[in-house]
Amino acid sequence: MRTPLIAGNWKMNGSTALINAFGDTFATATLPANIDVVVIPPFPYLDAARHAFQNTPLQLGAQTLNPQHSGAHTGEISGRMLKEFDVTYVLVGHSERRQLYQETDAQVFNRLVAALDVGLTPILCVGETLEERDAGRTMDVVLRQVGHAMARLEPVQRLQIVIAYEPVWAIGTGRTATPKQAQEVMAGIRSYQAGFDVSLAEQLKLLYGGSMNASNAAELLAQPDIDGGLVGGASLKTDDFYAICQSAG
Ligand code: 13P
Repeated sequence: MRTPLIAGNWKMNGSTALINAFGDTFATATLPANIDVVVIPPFPYLDAARHAFQNTPLQLGAQTLNPQHSGAHTGEISGRMLKEFDVTYVLVGHSERRQLYQETDAQVFNRLVAALDVGLTPILCVGETLEERDAGRTMDVVLRQVGHAMARLEPVQRLQIVIAYEPVWAIGTGRTATPKQAQEVMAGIRSYQAGFDVSLAEQLKLLYGGSMNASNAAELLAQPDIDGGLVGGASLKTDDFYAICQSAG
């Protein structure tokens, strides 16, 4: 049985006021039993968030990490530092990092290993562009990204990774993948993993991301291979994010 996971990626948005609003809302909110909920704010808010979320079920995530633990890397943040702020999850290979900051599959792999090294749970993001989908290359692209990141990992490491399928054309566009389209790709990822190890594939947690909101979450989350959501825009509103969490119960 895979525990549902809802993660809110704030990207370069938010404020201390929003952190506090989440702390207040989720301190009194009743969430479905047995789901994990993670908020992923920008780095400067992590310390405020760990205090504000103390009496809530919210866990904390970060948006990226440097592959090194420390050193002369001006402007970068390491996994060890994130651990000091009670961060438990970290996004790796988000399409915005791949596209806007030229992160390669090789760099994604190094970040993944760095996260695992310090005991953070990486949320590996994969997904095709519209051009790739239209060319019928969705599965090739997604499995290339998954393969680069995971093929060289030990089975025990593969078990610790969460994969988020986020079609690039659905991110921030209001155009969600249909539940059928999302399910197809997620089933493909799971069956790829089953090629390594069937029981590991059964345990692998898969999230859908891309314009998930309070209205479409339930239908997406009802798909057999979708275990949760990675939510962008709708995670910036306490009510919407709370409603999505409710749909995961
Ligand atoms: P939106 O929900 O805003 O489409 O963003 C999805 C996303 O990129 C989450 O990581």
